[in-house]
Amino acid sequence: MTMPMRRAALVPGTLLLSPLLLAAASEQPFAPTYTTDGLIVPPTGYREWVYLSSGLDMSYSERAGNAGHSMFDNVFVDPAAWAAFKRTGHWPDKTTFVLELRAASSQGSILKKGQYQASEVMGMELHVRDDARGGWGFYGVEGGKPAKRLPKSEACYACHEQHGAVDTTFTQFYPTARPIAEQAGSFHAGD
Ligand code: HEC
Repeated sequence: MTMPMRRAALVPGTLLLSPLLLAAASEQPFAPTYTTDGLIVPPTGYREWVYLSSGLDMSYSERAGNAGHSMFDNVFVDPAAWAAFKRTGHWPDKTTFVLELRAASSQGSILKKGQYQASEVMGMELHVRDDARGGWGFYGVEGGKPAKRLPKSEACYACHEQHGAVDTTFTQFYPTARPIAEQAGSFHAGD
């Protein structure tokens, strides 16, 4: 009589455990991957990463840009990098940032005023720290296809190195990240 009872008592325990194990298995930390010819494979799940900020019509020159069309940029970072950043104030090896561009729309649904982000992704750029590949690298992604690391001569490197407040990133514009770096002493106030 005791055996069947004990087995019955085990069953609920087993049922509880397995979803937990499954969840743990699906939360592997992200690391950038490359094709055999060295192109980076753009991350697909970045919309479930840590959201840092959205810029609206940010421009680095005095020129009037975009001919009347507004554009949002959304910045995401992979969760493992964010966890390390919170501890140290620095972005660790394998940090992957995604900058996603979306057109601003002022017409739709009940809208009378203001702007929202249209569904179509207009562009995507990556900023990835991979110490085995020479440190921080920039990539322009087109159509979700694997992308080539941009050469050092590209303007991305000079601007980010000179003006990025933390480890060549623009952490000064990410409101939840900025105070962490300031407190950790990794924040370089510049212009
Ligand atoms: C003249 C300065 C300048 C140049 C040139 C520039 N960026 Fe940036 N970049 C910025 C600023 C400012 C931000 C912050 C955007 C925000 O707050 O939404 C940024 C943010 C980013 C981010 C988000 C992660 C981070 O590092 O903060 C990526 C990815 C990125 N840029 C990619 C590129 C790529 C790729 C190029 C070259 C093709 C490039 N950038 C050229 C100024 C620059």
